[in-house]
Amino acid sequence: MNSPTNAEQYQSYRGLPVLAGLCSMERAVESQWSVETSTSQLKRLHYLTRRLHETLTARITAEPIYELKTAYSHHAYLLAEYTSAIRKRVGEMRVPPLGLEDVPHDSLKLLMDEIISSPTTETLLVGAYEVVLSAILDAAKQLQQAAHPLADAPTVRLMKLLQFELLEVAEFGRQAIACLISQQQREDMAHWLALLANCLKHAGNLELTSADDGSQGDLPGDVPEVAPHYSKTPFQYQAEPRRDERFHDSYNAGVNPEAFLYDERFSARDKTLMMYYKRIREIDVPEMMASILYELRDEEPWEFHMEMSRQLWDEARHAMMGEVGFLSLGLDWTKIPINFTWSRNLNLQLNARERHGVLFFIEQGLMPKTGKKYEWEVGCDSGDGLSGMFQDFDWADEVLHAQIGRRWYMPRYKTLQESLAFGDRSWTKVVSQWHAYREQGLTEHRNWWPDLYQEACRRWNVAPDPVALAFHTTYEESRADLKKISP
Ligand SMILES: [Fe+2]
Ligand SMILES: [Fe+2]
Repeated sequence: MNSPTNAEQYQSYRGLPVLAGLCSMERAVESQWSVETSTSQLKRLHYLTRRLHETLTARITAEPIYELKTAYSHHAYLLAEYTSAIRKRVGEMRVPPLGLEDVPHDSLKLLMDEIISSPTTETLLVGAYEVVLSAILDAAKQLQQAAHPLADAPTVRLMKLLQFELLEVAEFGRQAIACLISQQQREDMAHWLALLANCLKHAGNLELTSADDGSQGDLPGDVPEVAPHYSKTPFQYQAEPRRDERFHDSYNAGVNPEAFLYDERFSARDKTLMMYYKRIREIDVPEMMASILYELRDEEPWEFHMEMSRQLWDEARHAMMGEVGFLSLGLDWTKIPINFTWSRNLNLQLNARERHGVLFFIEQGLMPKTGKKYEWEVGCDSGDGLSGMFQDFDWADEVLHAQIGRRWYMPRYKTLQESLAFGDRSWTKVVSQWHAYREQGLTEHRNWWPDLYQEACRRWNVAPDPVALAFHTTYEESRADLKKISP
């Protein structure tokens, strides 16, 4: 007897919460829910989280604004986590084949095609955060409330967790839009935003009552037909990194921080400066990794994308650690050229597999004693607690990255040696163009080190070490692993 009256009268032992705290008995005796309804909605959410992950990743490289580059890196990673969690849940629901690679509704495909193809930072922000993320959050809330709290408890939990984290992402989007988009810009987007809204309407606004059998459903009579606008021209990934106006002289390779770091003549304190520079310069790693993820989007399984997205986000965090390091020393990082030629050259000269090879080669090279462990020791010895702490976690992250490489890059080759050799060869193939950049007037390769070092010494209230002050080793003849290159 499943009557509410029975449920109301039900007595637990000494009034303890019933059903492990999931819900009341009145709610638990309601029977309107099914595996089919639950999986159908999960698949629609999966499609949106996965495509939004792809969209934000694809726009990292060419997005000039540093705060957005790092935010897209973070948010794409979070979306990857929920994409993975939803895939896992669907896999538990006895519905093989899972159909996770299928498009659940043509208008949702159009919605996502429009946003990835949209031309500006402003259109991307509004489309991704205001339209799609809001739709995801509304649908997650609805699914959390509609799913049976006992029978479908894992789905309810997942939807709660998703909202917990993605509401913060939506708040970032709201603030970014308030900072960057004028009323006029929003009005200029009105037509396009109406198209996006109509795409969602065609998919029943993701409501459970509509098309929950996964079919296209009947189109509502009062919704205009939807047709591609920006996506008439398919999205072209822009491989050339762009930076905002605080970055200048980005072709400058006039200082080789690795040469300084591994030179025994210099003090740990002075080396922290170069390490903070190396950290913030790492914004070039997300710029490069995004190209691998986008270009291999159909060639590698989802698990590859999940793990590589985590790594991409870690590299954005490392850059932000450098930003914080400069701030902690009272130094202005915008006065220093933050070089982008590593990501630019790799993106423009190599294919995705070669780029992955270079990444793997570099990260394996960080594992011996002279790599990340050494940087941590320098940080600890420097008297700069923040540097020691950042390098402690940076080392941990890089160990994880080396493992990710062993899972997702190395197995393509017969041996570890072969996989490393391919990476080394690919890196050697990259033309550094050190001289060409100077000849073309793109940079003077100015030695920015003495100014930065003297400013830091003023802050530390110490006299500069004359040998450190005279440091002038460039990237003209060697690359970041100090291997000689022909200029
Ligand atoms: Fe890193
Ligand atoms: Fe890394």
